Amino acid sequence: MTRKINIFDTTLRDGEQSPGASMNTEEKLIIARQLIRMNVDVIEAGFPISSPGDFKSVAEIGRIADDRCTVCGLTRAVDKDIEVAAEALKTAKRPRIHTGLGVSPSHLRDKLRMTEDEAIERAIHAVKFARNFVDDVEFYAEDAGRADQDFLCRIIEAAVKAGATVVNIPDTTGYNMPWAFGARIADLRERVDGIEDVTISVHTHNDLGMATALAIEAVRNGATQVECTINGLGERAGNTALEEVVMVIRMHGQELDAHTDIVTQELTRASKLVSSITGMTVQANKAIVGVNAFAHSSGIHQDGVLKARDTYEIIDPADVGAGGSQIILSARSGHAALRHRMAELGYTFEDDEFESIYQAFLEVADKKKEVYDEDLESIVHERERVTKAIWTLGAVQVSCGFPLTPTATLTLVDEGGEEHTVAAFGTGPVDAVYKAVNQIVSVENDLSEFAIKAVTRGIDALGEVTVRVTAGDGQVYTGRGSDNDIIVSSTKAYINALNRLISDRQ
Ligand code: KIV
Ligand code: ZN
Repeated sequence: MTRKINIFDTTLRDGEQSPGASMNTEEKLIIARQLIRMNVDVIEAGFPISSPGDFKSVAEIGRIADDRCTVCGLTRAVDKDIEVAAEALKTAKRPRIHTGLGVSPSHLRDKLRMTEDEAIERAIHAVKFARNFVDDVEFYAEDAGRADQDFLCRIIEAAVKAGATVVNIPDTTGYNMPWAFGARIADLRERVDGIEDVTISVHTHNDLGMATALAIEAVRNGATQVECTINGLGERAGNTALEEVVMVIRMHGQELDAHTDIVTQELTRASKLVSSITGMTVQANKAIVGVNAFAHSSGIHQDGVLKARDTYEIIDPADVGAGGSQIILSARSGHAALRHRMAELGYTFEDDEFESIYQAFLEVADKKKEVYDEDLESIVHERERVTKAIWTLGAVQVSCGFPLTPTATLTLVDEGGEEHTVAAFGTGPVDAVYKAVNQIVSVENDLSEFAIKAVTRGIDALGEVTVRVTAGDGQVYTGRGSDNDIIVSSTKAYINALNRLISDRQ
């Protein structure tokens, strides 16, 4: 059996320190429920002395957490902080006080204005004081990543002797190279008396984009708890992303001699929840949980994934609750991807028929970044309409706007291939076009309905127009047309309705 790595989630404390990400108690409870569902080992629920809201959140989360999940409150190495945290944690079945202070030269000299010995005294006192309230006390050595290693060993040993059950070695500024940070952990394990009896935790930040690498290297060197946040939320460039650490451990568990108890199928849901509650958007290409994490856009990749998913995917999307692999249809997509998606939508075509569908698809794709299912449906339906056409659109142009009189110039092509061109005025651009159509296709009808909708997302969406015309005998005919240009889709829809009306009477 591999080593169990505890996942300590600090989304609700360090994550919330991300500018603009503050949450109220209700929102924190929603996230906490998801963290519990995901099986995290520890939830750092807040910094109780910092505000009544944080106090309440820690107390409420303590109430809902089961006896498998530790609830932790942060404090400075200050008695009052510890007393308030202990009070907030009274509701928790498994309470933990997380106390500590800065240990790097700049923290000691510039922030705390303490000598190393004074810092050790403060650490011993804080841990002992916290142990009066709870059995589980985690000591953090803030900015350990830039601390003098001999001093770090001394203060950690003092904290362990004072009763710390967990020692947290943060790279607060994300400064280290992963192997140097790993070496610090290995050195602590070698030199600190009693460290084998406590959990070594690591808490890394992403200032150089290496938070996950730092945490993994620490695990490789003996750490058995990783502190992290959903989506890597946190101060400045953020904390270690929980989903990344968990999936690295899952993918390389044997090599790392490590596993976690996280229900990985809940990762995507957790990511979306945190993003929607905090308003912090997840970048599209974010590992594991970005919307593009399992999306394939180039024709070569799509062809590979359709033949065998693992040609371009190392994780099964289902394992992180991400639905499935996505084939993004765009101008770079090939025949295989289009045929596959069409088949999923229930359309199969003979080769020559498919080729003309593919060409129609490329025309749409050239105008749009991404072609959606609704676009494909429109392409297929447009084709069905065109095959029944008596009149087809040759060209349409309108000039309109204030203070112009809307004018349309229109060319329709009849069944024999002859072009008919006219111009007409109207009360608006569509009215002008419809008057021009009526001049060419002279068939008695009344336009009884006109509706337009965007069939896909974005500014480059296809606009689909539906019209209903009533013939002289009261019979109603529906026509549809779609195009990126709504004047073109309006024209196509009207012609489509009139073609139906005429063919019904032939
Ligand atoms: O980054 C850090 O060092 C911290 C500590 C308070 C644990 O967040
Ligand atoms: Zn931090």
